[in-house]
Amino acid sequence: MAVALIVAAGSGERLGAGVPKALVELAGRPMWLWSLDALARCAAVEQIVIAWPPEIASTQASLAERLCTSVGIESVEGGASRSESVLRALRAARSAEIVLVHDAARPLLTPELAESVISALSADPDAHAAIAAAAVTDTIKRADASLLVSETLPRNELWSVQTPQVFRREALERALGGADTELALATDDASLIERSGGRVIVVPSSPENIKVTTPVDLRLAGLLLAARHGPSA
Ligand code: C5P
Repeated sequence: MAVALIVAAGSGERLGAGVPKALVELAGRPMWLWSLDALARCAAVEQIVIAWPPEIASTQASLAERLCTSVGIESVEGGASRSESVLRALRAARSAEIVLVHDAARPLLTPELAESVISALSADPDAHAAIAAAAVTDTIKRADASLLVSETLPRNELWSVQTPQVFRREALERALGGADTELALATDDASLIERSGGRVIVVPSSPENIKVTTPVDLRLAGLLLAARHGPSA
């Protein structure tokens, strides 16, 4: 069995909604509820720990417990960086051997995707982590500060990385035990494992599992959720 950590403690500055991003309404619900719902329907998940922005932690924690009774819910206050929020949630989690980490900013998560990333890790005993990612369809170039192109990267080797990311607990604990400066710079947890030579495997996922960062993403996510769940969503 696995524990799932949902990190929802970001401020959402780039979305500019005036409230923490996880609270922004999306297809009739606060954004975080979509991820909670998908993970609660995942048979392999025995507990979900949510890291909230401190100012809304107690109100949202009781709402989450009321709305989701099929699986154990735990809440913590998030930290100053994403990695710190993951670490706080991990410390509050039950002692399961497999830990799934998911960004509340990806509300298009499905139980099937979560199950397939968990299964991929279980199927490879040497792997430390398995991560959902979509094949890159754009051509990606590197450019310097003056916008001069220096390189075109080979697209067939590129993946646009998402969450869920699933870890052997020991590997995640070791990765999150690094220096604060290193943790503050990490945009995902798998990169911390890669850095120490860990084995991370990609699980191909749909580009539909978008991350909501800007107002355009929010609109797109709303349309995709309504198409998936019907106009009442
Ligand atoms: O900022 P960004 O959208 O990249 O954040 C990714 C995820 O990490 C979001 O779900 C956000 O709520 C979460 N986060 C967090 N604690 C922070 C910063 C971000 O839980 N301090």
